[in-house]
Amino acid sequence: MTPNQWIEKLEWRYATKQFDKTKKIPADVWESIEDSLVLTPSSFGLQPWKFIVVKNETVRQELLPHSWNQPQVVDASHLVVLAARAPIQQVDIDQFITSTHETRGGDIADLDMYKGMMSGFISRMDEDQRTTWAKNQAYIALGQLMSTAAAIGIDACPMEGIVPTEYDTVLGLNGTGYTTTLACPMGYRDTDDKYAQAPKVRYPKSSIITHI
Ligand SMILES: Cc1cc2nc3c(=O)[nH]c(=O)nc-3n(C[C@H](O)[C@H](O)[C@H](O)COP(=O)(O)O)c2cc1C
Repeated sequence: MTPNQWIEKLEWRYATKQFDKTKKIPADVWESIEDSLVLTPSSFGLQPWKFIVVKNETVRQELLPHSWNQPQVVDASHLVVLAARAPIQQVDIDQFITSTHETRGGDIADLDMYKGMMSGFISRMDEDQRTTWAKNQAYIALGQLMSTAAAIGIDACPMEGIVPTEYDTVLGLNGTGYTTTLACPMGYRDTDDKYAQAPKVRYPKSSIITHI
């Protein structure tokens, strides 16, 4: 793909308001989308998230009133809920160090400094800050998800217009240590969605990018 072709893909993508209910994302394409979520980078590499793919139509109907009644939640082929570790804990750092050692080998003691740095970082934050930090990481996953979707011709609608506490209840997240942060319905745009043709509202490059 050339740089210009990538920009064309980003022009093509938009926050889809109306999905074609009849079109489903094929299983192999969906696998790639999940792989791309797994590959999302995070601060320190801690991956403080879970992604819930809601297939069950009854559950999606239950989520609708907690989504400002945005129809994408029920009409899209797939619905991804991005949940964050709330709050990030020392145990997450321990688990990550174990996983790093298992993946890369070597002497686990060599990771002590890195571990100490991460532990120091989270110990300087209170619980709310540690939850906010994890939620910020979930936004990176949302960005990766949207870019992947655009690259492979899948439509998506990033969504903050949801009631996370109600999502947590419906999805059974209470007590799991994870909390709903965002939702992202994905699928194929309906030909009637007028937003697909609306020109993008973006500030000019010159007003938001400074070269020093
Ligand atoms: C974090 C985030 C949350 C958003 N929440 C919603 C939402 O709840 N419902 C919706 O229709 N669009 C939502 N949007 C879409 C934005 O309104 C949209 O991306 C923006 O207006 C730019 O338009 P475009 O994405 O079509 O280029 C959200 C976008 C982001 C990045």
